Amino acid sequence: MNAGGAFDADAAIYDRSRRQLIPCFDEFYRVAVEQAPQRRDAAVRVLDLGAGTGLLSACFAEAYTRATFTLVDVAPEMLARAERRFAGDGERFAFVCADYATMRFEGSYDLIVSALSIHHLPHEEKRALFRRANAALAPGGAFINADQVLGPTPEREAEYGAAWLARTRELGVGEDDLAAAIERMKHDIKATEADQLRWLREAGFADADCVYRWHWFGVFSGRKR
Ligand SMILES: C[S@@+](CC[C@H](N)C(=O)[O-])C[C@H]1O[C@@H](n2cnc3c(N)ncnc32)[C@H](O)[C@@H]1O
Repeated sequence: MNAGGAFDADAAIYDRSRRQLIPCFDEFYRVAVEQAPQRRDAAVRVLDLGAGTGLLSACFAEAYTRATFTLVDVAPEMLARAERRFAGDGERFAFVCADYATMRFEGSYDLIVSALSIHHLPHEEKRALFRRANAALAPGGAFINADQVLGPTPEREAEYGAAWLARTRELGVGEDDLAAAIERMKHDIKATEADQLRWLREAGFADADCVYRWHWFGVFSGRKR
């Protein structure tokens, strides 16, 4: 089973344990939204890569009430949940069931955003995606990727994993949800913060930075000049 299949299988339970499985959930998503350089009243065009059930788009939609969104995901069950989430506001949201590693990015966007998805791609595909994101952004736009980060050494990686496990349990995660998350993590191909920043800069995001970190979780952003 690939990453999309694994998420489809867990779509029904995905949302209920996010705050336990992402112990830094509130700050992680808040900082991602704060990285958008546009004014809050701007009618920004947003492309959400690996949108899943629409959690990240929902955060941007709350902050940018005139924004329009294209949500892309390869897992139809996850995307169907996003469609239900935004059903009352249909005109602002479009849904595309596709692999963003190979789909054409039609048009131009002010924000290309992603949360907890790009780490499923092999490294070369991450690098290619960062270049395509740069090409698809309008000048002044931003690429914002809240994603997983590999520790720079095996010791650090083990430390982050232990911190994550301890905190998810402190936060009361259900053992079934924890087991499902650990199963999905078998599809992870994480990269270090240093590699992700280098690839972003190579892709044309000269000011790329990791503006937030909690162990495995990092928010990366870069502006299109
Ligand atoms: C952990 S979920 C994150 C969903 C959402 N962004 C969030 O923050 O809750 C990862 C999502 O990425 C999707 N995904 C993984 N690889 C993908 C790809 N190559 N193309 C499109 N979607 C992909 C999965 O199907 C899944 O819905």
